[in-house]
Parts: sequence; C-alpha cells; structure tokens
Amino acid sequence: MTNLVSIFLYDSNAAVSKAVLDELAAPLSDDERERAARFGHAGARRDFVTGRFLLRHALTRHCPTCLPKDWQFVIGPYGKPALADDSPALQFNLSHTKGLLACAITEAGAVGIDVETLERKSDLEKLARRFFSPLESKALLALPVEQRRERFFRIWTLKEAYIKARGRGLGIPLGSFSYTFKAADALQLQVHEGEEPGACWQAHSYRVGAVHRLGLVLPGSAPPRVPALALESFWLGEPEHRAQLEWLGGTLELPGSIVEVG
Ligand SMILES: CC(C)(COP(=O)(O)OP(=O)(O)OC[C@H]1O[C@@H](n2cnc3c(N)ncnc32)[C@H](O)[C@@H]1OP(=O)(O)O)[C@@H](O)C(=O)NCCC(=O)NCCS
Repeated sequence: MTNLVSIFLYDSNAAVSKAVLDELAAPLSDDERERAARFGHAGARRDFVTGRFLLRHALTRHCPTCLPKDWQFVIGPYGKPALADDSPALQFNLSHTKGLLACAITEAGAVGIDVETLERKSDLEKLARRFFSPLESKALLALPVEQRRERFFRIWTLKEAYIKARGRGLGIPLGSFSYTFKAADALQLQVHEGEEPGACWQAHSYRVGAVHRLGLVLPGSAPPRVPALALESFWLGEPEHRAQLEWLGGTLELPGSIVEVG
C-alpha cells in the first residue's frame, strides 16, 4: 500500500463553451449524462460534468490500461461513489465549490476531500454554532475576529472531509467529532462517539490560491504516514485554463499542517 495521494484541481471560474462541455461529457456513462441533464442550474451541471471528466482522466493517469470512458462506478448506501471493480485498490473523492473542483485519488484507503471558497457570504459564527461541536465553536469565537474566517473554513472543510472519507455523509453527526488546534499548525482530531475502536485518521489542510481552502482526510496514524502529496494540474481543452491551473498549483502550500488523530 502506498501513501501517495494525488490531488487534481480545476479552476472552474472560466466560462466553458457548449462545444467544450460536450467534449468533457464524452467519456461519461449514460447514467452520468442523464444525471447531468437533470440539473436545472447550468453551473451545477457544468461542475458535475467537469468533475466526472476530471475523475475519469485522473484515474486513467493512475492506471493507464483503463481508458477514461471505461471506468465504472457504484454508489454507496449514503451516496459515496466508488469504483465498481476495486481490483486496482484505488479510492477517490470529489468536491466542488465556487471556482474550484478537487479530486483526490489514493491507494491508501478511504479518502475524503472538501473544498470551500473563503468568499462565501454567511454568518460564520451562526453556522459554527449550528454545525460545529461545542469545543470547535467555542475555540472559534475565542479567536480575534480577523482570524475567524480562515479558521472557520479550515474546520468546515476538515469536517466535511472526515464525513466524506467515512462515506456516511450527514449520517455522522457533525458535533460527534472535533478538530482542536494545539498550536497554529498542529491539529488534533477527536472523535467523541460512533467511531470503530482503534480507527485512525490523518487530516491535512491546505490553502489553494487566494480564496480557497482544501481539507483532506485519509486513514493512517501520525507523522510517518503523512502522505506525499502530488499536485497535478489538468488542461480541459481551452488554453487559458492551463495558465490558471498552473497558478493554482504554484500557490498550494505544502506540506499539510495536521498530523495527529485520536
Ligand atoms: C456529499 C456530502 C457529504 C458533501 O456535500 P457537499 O459538501 O455539498 O459537496 P461536495 O462538492 O464537497 O461533494 C460532492 C461529491 O462528493 C461525493 N459524495 C457524494 N456522497 C458522498 C458521501 N456520502 N461520502 C463521500 N462522498 C460523497 C460525490 O462524488 C459528489 O460529487 P458528484 O455528485 O459530482 O460526484 C453532503 O451530502 C453532505 O452531507 N454535506 C453536509 C453539508 C453540511 O452541512 N456541512 C457542514 C460542515 S461543518
């Protein structure tokens, strides 16, 4: 088993023409195309199609004998997609937010990834009181106001990444686990209830470009198992995208900041 995690990022700010969208949809399955057609919102449809294109090409980079159009997926009981044939032992997870798509692929086990834009206009304190554990919201509110936005999205993306790694979505109560900061860059994940005895997870948080935060969670113990992170960029057909992706790649801060899991 390898601890390598590849993360593929796509800057979804740029407009995509109908012709390119058709090109992106070409490797998708009939089911995926039907699902895409059901999205009422053009942006959501584009994100779904682009995400699946990105996923299929990323999987083929790991396993070049399988063409992008030939990957088949199954959906878990809580909605997490996985490979129908798990013989390559590859696991993946996808996330979309305004302006960014991210896909993580690994052989290290169940992986969860989440991206969010720091520009989201919401009452963050109110959201924290509603969704974070009491420990997390208390720590957030104790911070100086100017540090709260960054901390809020760190926690948010890491919480999402954890429930996505486990694949159970909101079947895991968001207050049943907490991320605490022992120091600025040393985080600890504490699971208060509902976890398998002896389970061990590691979590990493990255700033991507100026306005995005990325959370990544996968199984494993402390520092020796922190994955090597391979950031790869993708060119989705229109030359201007290449430049944006390189820009994103250039500003991802490595390595991750979180190692301990309880
Ligand atoms: C899927 C879920 C876990 C995350 O949704 P989200 O953050 O809105 O969306 P993301 O873009 O990050 O992730 C969606 C992708 O995750 C994957 N996914 C779907 N269900 C999943 C599950 N149960 N577990 C892991 N991954 C899942 C899919 O690939 C999906 O993309 P696709 O449909 O285009 O293939 C969602 O069901 C959820 O429960 N969200 C909680 C929202 C919330 O209140 N968060 C508060 C955080 S503090």
